[in-house]
Amino acid sequence: MPTIREVAQKAGVSYTTVSHVINNTRRVSTPVRERVLAAMQELGYRPNALARSLRSGETKTIGLILPDSANPFFAEVGRAIENAAFRSQYSVILCNTEGDQAKERVYTEVLQNKQVDGLIFVAAGDQPDALQEIATRGLPVVVIDRDCSQLELDTVITDNLSGGRQAGSHLAQIPNLRAACITGPSNLTPSAQRLVGFQQALHEAGIELREEWVLRGDFHPHSGYQAALHWLKAAQRPNAIFCCNDMMAIGVLRAAAELGVMVPQELEVIGFDDIELASYTHPPLTTVAQPKAQIGETAVRLLLERIADGWLPARREILPTTLIIRKTTHEEKP
Ligand code: RIB
Repeated sequence: MPTIREVAQKAGVSYTTVSHVINNTRRVSTPVRERVLAAMQELGYRPNALARSLRSGETKTIGLILPDSANPFFAEVGRAIENAAFRSQYSVILCNTEGDQAKERVYTEVLQNKQVDGLIFVAAGDQPDALQEIATRGLPVVVIDRDCSQLELDTVITDNLSGGRQAGSHLAQIPNLRAACITGPSNLTPSAQRLVGFQQALHEAGIELREEWVLRGDFHPHSGYQAALHWLKAAQRPNAIFCCNDMMAIGVLRAAAELGVMVPQELEVIGFDDIELASYTHPPLTTVAQPKAQIGETAVRLLLERIADGWLPARREILPTTLIIRKTTHEEKP
């Protein structure tokens, strides 16, 4: 097993410089850091992480708990988190709960046993008792996406009510609008707020959202597909559907294509998230964009500040949404 001395000799630097690179205890210039890392790679040197963490009391690792790592929204937010953490020399351990609160509890225990320095947390459901426990144990944690306002924790969320209003105001421009909405799981705050915002905008335009044209989806494409099939096969059908995420909107587009319903001429469709795929559907999807990179970067910034100073007051960042008009709806009227 190569030693630190051999790494220092190969990189042409001092023993202490190699130690600073390993433990991130002093800023080392990029060229020197790269020389040391290259020497480590050539020699096959691997720092003893456990010894290092015992010395510094830090593992330079953060946990990331997501409800569905296969959903592109979370994948894109997770990518931003990992990139921001890497820039600050932190590693990320990703845990996928599949929306299961029992699994969420297991993972919070696993991550604490692995001595992570902090957690970024998307709640699996609406009873995050695991989160309550972490908060009382004092582990630094930042809540993102699904608000847990009952706990005084650092939080980064999107203005979902405003996003729903943006979708409603856009569709309200359609003459003789017959609007429908496919929500996400109703126990999740983002979906509930999007529906409220959508209803508010329609109401202000004097348009009623019929109860039979609001169906609950599960944020997966098939639920959007099924809801659209149900509505589009009926004699009286909606001419616009707002989906509380892009994945369900993709399901709606498939249903419309199968039934020969022209989008946007006969049916307008709006999604929510603006995942990368939204630009590549046919037609390209109009959607309410969430600032995914900003969500991830802000979460990492708040967490590292919290790790450095546990006494900071809880911070709450509410980020704006943006309506992105593509080809599944009409052009915005002035
Ligand atoms: O697409 C997944 C949805 O779940 C997103 O809208 C995100 O806000 C999360 O709540």
